[in-house]
Amino acid sequence: MNAGTGKTALITGASSGIGQELAKLFAKDGYNLVLVGRKEDTLDRLADVFKSNYGTQQITVINKDLSEEDAAQDVYNQVQEKGITVNILVNDAGASTYGKFATETDWEREKQLVHLNVLATTQMTKLFLKDMVSRNEGRILQLASLVAITPFPLMAVYGATKAYIWNLTQSLINEIKDTNVTMTALMPNATATNFFREAGAPKLNVEDVLDDPAMVAKDAYKALMKGEAKVIPGGMGNKAQEMMAYVSPQETLASGMRKLLTPKDEAKAEAEESQTSVWTIVGIAAAVVTGIALVTAYNNTNAIDRARYRYQAGKLKDQALDLFHDADDSLGDAKDAAVDKWAGVKKVATQIFSSAFA
Ligand SMILES: NC(=O)c1ccc[n+]([C@@H]2O[C@H](COP(=O)([O-])OP(=O)(O)OC[C@H]3O[C@@H](n4cnc5c(N)ncnc54)[C@H](OP(=O)(O)O)[C@@H]3O)[C@@H](O)[C@H]2O)c1
Repeated sequence: MNAGTGKTALITGASSGIGQELAKLFAKDGYNLVLVGRKEDTLDRLADVFKSNYGTQQITVINKDLSEEDAAQDVYNQVQEKGITVNILVNDAGASTYGKFATETDWEREKQLVHLNVLATTQMTKLFLKDMVSRNEGRILQLASLVAITPFPLMAVYGATKAYIWNLTQSLINEIKDTNVTMTALMPNATATNFFREAGAPKLNVEDVLDDPAMVAKDAYKALMKGEAKVIPGGMGNKAQEMMAYVSPQETLASGMRKLLTPKDEAKAEAEESQTSVWTIVGIAAAVVTGIALVTAYNNTNAIDRARYRYQAGKLKDQALDLFHDADDSLGDAKDAAVDKWAGVKKVATQIFSSAFA
């Protein structure tokens, strides 16, 4: 039997994916839970599992469609009526549509997703944050995404909602910095959940490389408990993608992301496979080069070397970006051309490391 922390975590979107994995971690650690979502049966079943597996003492299920007007206010009122203090809020529930904004996606569904991803998240944050600040304790986890900092064609409205969450979170972190309340933005890369099917997407290229939701939740949980401002779950590759998003031209990012969200056409798959994978390697290599060089080398040198490194890294970063640009342009060309670019990236990598550690 779990002794319990006596604290409560409220999790929206706990019925599947990342939210369910997070709920499991809170249950394991002895938190009471408030689970919010539309699939009441699934949430009830989950509550039974947590009670029997982890001895969770109190689990409240709130059946709510958060895309409805003032849904967050209703959730808050129900929590108040039950006399529950929410110590941790996880705003996980989120959804997308799939297709071209001008001609393919449905406005009613887009309106609902803006309500869910933006309005409900903002209102939940406002209501529970106010109480947390007045108690001077509490933690909030906000589901942003790595696409919060890149264009995301074919899921354009979704990407924009995540940019909103990312920006809101970073501003609020500043506003509450003199309190004991913390807020963490979770920025996962594409993850193996129901997300793409719920969005109505066919099988997509991006689904070749998906992160594990349990890993995402574990990294998020750790960062939330430490009160970190943001967390990019996974290894260096995901962190390097963030770095690349900050230094790459928007056009290049948009065309790369568009390819990831392009349906897997079985007939063309074989022909495109070599080009796509080489492009991906070039992109990741450039990202890793820039990321590792900037972070590792900078952190490991003294003040004088840091100044020298800043100068050298600035010059070499431009070269890496040129190569990345060229690689993007060469997409339509044969595989050999991309392989040349890959060789170029490797050369720049060598130069950067030599400079950084000279
Ligand atoms: N998967 C990815 O590649 C990825 C990457 C970055 C960020 N994210 C973000 O991670 C979060 C979780 O997504 P996931 O990947 O775990 O997808 P998922 O498995 O589809 O889970 C989405 C959750 O949101 C809830 N939800 C959806 N619409 C809702 C509504 N109208 N009202 C209340 N709850 C609703 C669902 O619960 P009910 O169906 O019970 O309502 C479900 O539990 C989302 O915010 C998503 O944007 C996902």
